[in-house]
Amino acid sequence: MTTRSRILTGDTPSGRLHLGHWVGSLENRVRLQDDYDCFFLLANMHAFTTRADKPEDIRRDTLDIVKDWLAAGIDPERSTLVLQTEVPAIAELSWFFAMLTPFNRVMRNPTLKTEIELKDLGEHYSFGFPLYTVGQCADILAFRAALVPVGEDQVAHIEMCREVARRFNATYCGVDPKTEDPEHVKAGGLFPIPSALIGRIGRLTGTDGKNKMSKSLGNAILLTDTAKEIKTKMGALYTGRQTMTEPGDTDNALFQYVRAFIKDPARVAELEDRYKRGDNIGDGHVKVEVAAAIDALLAPMRERRAALEGKPGDDRVLEILRAHTTKANAVAEETLHAAKQAMGLDFGRRALGFGR
Ligand code: TRP
Repeated sequence: MTTRSRILTGDTPSGRLHLGHWVGSLENRVRLQDDYDCFFLLANMHAFTTRADKPEDIRRDTLDIVKDWLAAGIDPERSTLVLQTEVPAIAELSWFFAMLTPFNRVMRNPTLKTEIELKDLGEHYSFGFPLYTVGQCADILAFRAALVPVGEDQVAHIEMCREVARRFNATYCGVDPKTEDPEHVKAGGLFPIPSALIGRIGRLTGTDGKNKMSKSLGNAILLTDTAKEIKTKMGALYTGRQTMTEPGDTDNALFQYVRAFIKDPARVAELEDRYKRGDNIGDGHVKVEVAAAIDALLAPMRERRAALEGKPGDDRVLEILRAHTTKANAVAEETLHAAKQAMGLDFGRRALGFGR
């Protein structure tokens, strides 16, 4: 039994995790494991929206993400991992929520639009692709989460989720639509209106110095990168500054890294000051120091990750997923049942476990 409020957040398996994931959300997840009842979702269903023809890749990426999570400090003894495709309540709630969401509202979702552009999907995306935004509402609401730690790019999705929760509570639970968000549950609503929690850096620039860090753009430092790889990638970061005496702009990508990864605030202030004044400090010096700080962060993760390589690691991951699927379904089924009751669909109950 627990009275802690819940967190739900997660990742779409689309490759290994990088520093952008860490500062955007992963770090918050690791930190909040004792304060909240945490559910971390593998959005493997969402991976199929753009890669339905690549099931092996999706399977591999799914196991890889769990390994990255465990390496980063997600503790399966304290938190629950949710494998989306084994939690049918999520898919069922997605249907109901799709009926509460205007089609044009989905298509206006700015994150969805950006993704269509970035991935160059044109008009060729699947019917299921825009549906994932409604599915994401169901991910969160199936666990009746209060808090959703995410990077800045996910805020549009959380906003949609808040709208869906308000509408459900008003339509089926008799909550007055003018009710303030924090009062919804007290007013009889099934769903708390969840808040986004943005990481200390909502959008980390990649090592190209321009775009958001992203594996597909090739500008990412992966959580599994070696000291040498970190150094090489940092070394390639272009700032446009020419000499050690040229006054530098500390709003550049290099200094975003300085502030993000060098722990000692006094050292950060000193570097900023000298860089701004062009006080005999080259980009190369700063990069070496940043690379060392990043390596210090990632070294223990690499070590834990190494213990999860190969088949024994896969087995360990599958064992965790199996056990946690039962826990996740217990919660999500409870929500689905309550939702159906509110909707006049209380025709039956079922029990779901894993392999039962
Ligand atoms: N869309 C998120 C991403 O690509 C992953 C995700 C799916 C998610 N469902 C979620 C994040 C629910 C937070 C809450 O990173």
